[in-house]
Amino acid sequence: DWTMTAYREEMIAKIREQVGDKQVICALSGGVDSSVTGILLHEAIGDQLTCVFVDHGLLRLNEAEQVVSMFRDNYNLNLIHADESELFLGALEGVSDPETKRKTIGKLFIDVFQKYADQIEGAEFLAQGTLYPDVIESVSFSGGPSVTIKSHHNVGGLPEKMGLKLVEPLRELFKDEVRALGHELGLPASFIGRHPFPGPGLAIRCPGEITRDKLEILRKADAVYIDQIRKHGLYDEIWQAFAAILPMRTVGVMGDGRTYDYALALRAVTSVDGMTADYYPFTHEFLGETSTRIINEVKGINRVFYDCTSKPPGTIELE
Ligand code: XMP
Repeated sequence: DWTMTAYREEMIAKIREQVGDKQVICALSGGVDSSVTGILLHEAIGDQLTCVFVDHGLLRLNEAEQVVSMFRDNYNLNLIHADESELFLGALEGVSDPETKRKTIGKLFIDVFQKYADQIEGAEFLAQGTLYPDVIESVSFSGGPSVTIKSHHNVGGLPEKMGLKLVEPLRELFKDEVRALGHELGLPASFIGRHPFPGPGLAIRCPGEITRDKLEILRKADAVYIDQIRKHGLYDEIWQAFAAILPMRTVGVMGDGRTYDYALALRAVTSVDGMTADYYPFTHEFLGETSTRIINEVKGINRVFYDCTSKPPGTIELE
């Protein structure tokens, strides 16, 4: 794409001019916006950039490893994998209120990011994947008005607190332009086309209290569900799809015995911007096959529900 090639060069020149020979830190979430920001900065200033990937222990199956290896192996950028899952899961013990979950995670995220940033000698800039729509509007979620779209990666108030200046190379771009730029920068199509994933991660797909047990079951079940969607060629037709583990156990039969296990909810929606959404009309055949696979392959689940609520009145996430 001719325009993007020119734009890429223009942005690289701007970043170099703004940053000079100073050090920059960037919080990588594994999402498209922060990834494109990180790669663009790496192209512009190489080793003057350090990225911090905060692993809160609420990511999907093998997700942390995939993100880390993609950046280290393909882009060779300075990346700190901050595995702080013990800290986050410890703080979330006994917490079941959705808004408290978000606040707990958001606050810890800032503390952790600051701790790692403090170790980077001479850092003067913080890079952020703010897009044009983020600049013009602030979106609030089911969790309440105190949380905005990127609240937990998007370290609001942190730059001032840490005395850092902001670098926001994507400020003039819309999402589809960021994807085109990601393509231009060599990000794999499968990565660019990933469904959105919320900052608080699996915490809000585990209504009620979060336990390591539930998280492990949820990760496996979600992976089977997404595998089914990919195998049926539906991934790109769906805006967002995921499984949620419900805070209830129900009775089932397996062989000669009874089971008493968790129930799982499957969610899939089409949407343009996440503000409104329609549930995805899977065939009964697809749903039946997926349910059978999940119950056979994932120990701890003996019942599967499909959520056919649109937004409004539902929200996309369950919390
Ligand atoms: P809801 O559930 O409010 O979600 O219909 C709309 C979109 O926003 C995502 N989402 C979040 N993203 N932090 C985030 O970074 C959050 O606290 C949060 N809550 C919801 C959700 O995945 C969907 O794409």
